[in-house]
Amino acid sequence: MLFLLLPLLTALFPGGDSGKNRGFEEPVSFHVMQTSSFHNHSWVHLSSGWLGKLQTHRWNSSSGTIIYLYPWSRGNFSNKELMDVERLFQLYFNEHQDFYISQLMFQDPFDLQVTVGCELHSGKGFLGFKQVAIQGYDFMRFQNETFLPSPKGGEKAQKACKLLNFNEAYTQRLHRLLSDTCPHFTLGLLEAGKAHLQRQAPQSALGWILFAVIVALALLTGLGFWFGKRW
Ligand SMILES: *[C@@H]1O[C@H](CO)[C@@H](O)[C@H](O)[C@H]1NC(C)=O
Ligand SMILES: *[C@@H]1O[C@H](CO)[C@@H](O)[C@H](O)[C@H]1NC(C)=O
Ligand SMILES: *[C@@H]1O[C@H](CO)[C@@H](O)[C@H](O)[C@H]1NC(C)=O
Ligand SMILES: *[C@@H]1O[C@H](CO)[C@@H](O)[C@H](O)[C@H]1NC(C)=O
Repeated sequence: MLFLLLPLLTALFPGGDSGKNRGFEEPVSFHVMQTSSFHNHSWVHLSSGWLGKLQTHRWNSSSGTIIYLYPWSRGNFSNKELMDVERLFQLYFNEHQDFYISQLMFQDPFDLQVTVGCELHSGKGFLGFKQVAIQGYDFMRFQNETFLPSPKGGEKAQKACKLLNFNEAYTQRLHRLLSDTCPHFTLGLLEAGKAHLQRQAPQSALGWILFAVIVALALLTGLGFWFGKRW
């Protein structure tokens, strides 16, 4: 019996690394994680794009371009739409360096973490978010078209929010990006990556299959035993 089961199990658990990225069990979301550090008068930016817990994109800061980690990482966006997003990020990186150093007077060394994206909430549709932390502390967040300072951010956070909220063109552009572009991109990405995600997802499904196999084995053994006794 076991010699029949072994090939079946190897077929079910190819490579033995199944379920490493269980993209599908998380709520549907896409976010970009950015860390920027300003040490010794020079900036280093690292950025990555995530569909749930699966990394789908990286930022090449030397060329200012998006690196697509999967063939389906472009979702259903056209090249022109993707280049617009790329340009937006280039602009953003240039502007935010100046914003934190020249306007808010942060000093070297300086570390910034930004999480920006959108998440599907049942009954409410997609909600966009943007959170900024500086030196590991909450600094401010963007919610409902407005930047709100975190208490830990002190005067600098209040000043930052005042300056940013005053720039209505910017807050509206960000709001559109989070409430319109991001949900469309996320849905397109899910659709385009469906085959890949379904291959990654079924860790719990594998559990059920294993369970079913064991039950079948027990039944067959039981039956064999029963038949063996009768005949
Ligand atoms: C900072 O930059 C200066 C001049 O470029 C260099 O001599 C020094 O070694 C750098 N220090 C660190 C800690 O990287
Ligand atoms: C990043 O861009 C540089 C300059 O265009 C290029 O030489 C390099 O290969 C790119 N890196 C990746 C990982 O694509
Ligand atoms: C967002 O702001 C609008 C107008 O300022 C307000 O009417 C609405 O209740 C706010 N929504 C949330 C979720 O805070
Ligand atoms: C991509 O697909 C999503 C979800 O099906 C849709 O809402 C969006 O309009 C599509 N975008 C383009 C550019 O076709």
